[in-house]
Amino acid sequence: MTDETAERSSTLLLFGATGDLAKRMLLPSLYALYADGLIAPDLRIFGTARSALSDDEYRDFARQALDEFLPTDRKTPAAIADFLNRLYYQPLDASVVDGFGPLAAKIGDISGGLSIFLSTAPSLFEPTIKGLQQAGLACANVRIGLEKPLGNDLASSAQINDAVARVFPEDRTFRIDHYLGKETVQNLMALRFANMLFEPLWNANAIEHVQITVSETVGLEGRAAFYDGTGALRDMLQNHMLQLLALTAMEPPANFDSTAIRDEKVKVLRALRPVADGDSMRGQYGDGAVNSQPVGSYANDLGEASDTETFVALKAYIDNWRWHGVPFYLRTGKRLAERRSEIVIQFKTVPHNIFDPRGGKLEANQLIIRLQPEEYVRLMVMAKEPGLERGDVRLREVPLDLSLTTAFAGSQRRIAYERLLLDLIEGDQTLFVRRDEVEAQWKWVDAIREVWKKNKVGAKPYASGSWGPSAAIALTERDGASWHE
Ligand code: BG6
Repeated sequence: MTDETAERSSTLLLFGATGDLAKRMLLPSLYALYADGLIAPDLRIFGTARSALSDDEYRDFARQALDEFLPTDRKTPAAIADFLNRLYYQPLDASVVDGFGPLAAKIGDISGGLSIFLSTAPSLFEPTIKGLQQAGLACANVRIGLEKPLGNDLASSAQINDAVARVFPEDRTFRIDHYLGKETVQNLMALRFANMLFEPLWNANAIEHVQITVSETVGLEGRAAFYDGTGALRDMLQNHMLQLLALTAMEPPANFDSTAIRDEKVKVLRALRPVADGDSMRGQYGDGAVNSQPVGSYANDLGEASDTETFVALKAYIDNWRWHGVPFYLRTGKRLAERRSEIVIQFKTVPHNIFDPRGGKLEANQLIIRLQPEEYVRLMVMAKEPGLERGDVRLREVPLDLSLTTAFAGSQRRIAYERLLLDLIEGDQTLFVRRDEVEAQWKWVDAIREVWKKNKVGAKPYASGSWGPSAAIALTERDGASWHE
């Protein structure tokens, strides 16, 4: 919820303005917001990066990005031309504090508020913050959005957060986890807290276990330099998956506002029990085929051998009353069989099966919340198969389907960065990650890496196009559970 004192910024400044994220996501998102009248028509958008471009050259760059990444039905030439006129560009070497003077001069008057979106190499965070401060671009009406990676462990993340906090207080710091901008992720809160049906059962009494899967079919995608020093645990699990876990497991917040929601999430993150030895595993993709196309191994993509994990699976526990003894199985990986993000709530079986003497077998209910690429909620319920037999009762699991795509067929689908950029410009922190959350996430993830180091847990190979190494399957099967596939 927008802080009542928050004002819409009249200027936006993008660092990393010629980068991949800007091209694929930020410029198309800003255009969509502009075309739909969701941002002020006079919002000025400044881009900055190292490349020496003029305003016109940057507009050409943006035009090409829109051409490449906007869906065809969103391309309106007149709106694109108008939008491009909002763009300005100033070259800057962010590692040199002196360069920020000309940037501030170019931006000019920021009395209408300034929102900054920082998506740069982590090594540039500190000098950028210093440069902004010295150039007068960090005053009380300036907020800053920070794109990951913000450090790669608790210590380095604290160092970045400290550097930011010296200049920007927490209520003007917007840490981005783009999963929170996804419509279906927000829908998780609607499902849980706008319906009476689920909440009474949403606990250890009725739930056997929870699964969270974020699988991708893509591989390294030219990000070798970043990815090889990071791995799946830090790239995906530390942030996106733990946020999904927190939203799934948190207590009902008293209000739909940034403090209430983030207070509840952080309680869950702090209640995560350190992962026990043997309850986590890592893998790395080998040769195989994805969507029937042959693909090479990670080592092949990288050009050298490496022990970085492209897959991680683990069993987590939340040590509180609600979730006592309920395993949360998490897995994520690249080059898997399908692209899929989903949360599966596996309920317990009924306490007594009255159909048993007549051969009626029961499956436990399952709630599948598919976040992407499809968007649906599916409840698996038991039903009687039609028939007049007296002796046998045949029961079967049938899906009760709610397709959000169909139910909201007429609504414009928004990508995560449209939501997040709008919230940054308007000063709404609900979908941004607070420092205490990030630090609880890192603390827990660092301990997993310690276990791997101590036990020399290597990355097990798996064939591209599979669901990961067999050890990931063993992780659930030894508890009598199985991954939803
Ligand atoms: C990013 C990771 O945060 O999320 C990438 O760095 C990953 O490695 C991406 O591919 C996945 O996002 P999405 O929105 O495609 O699920």
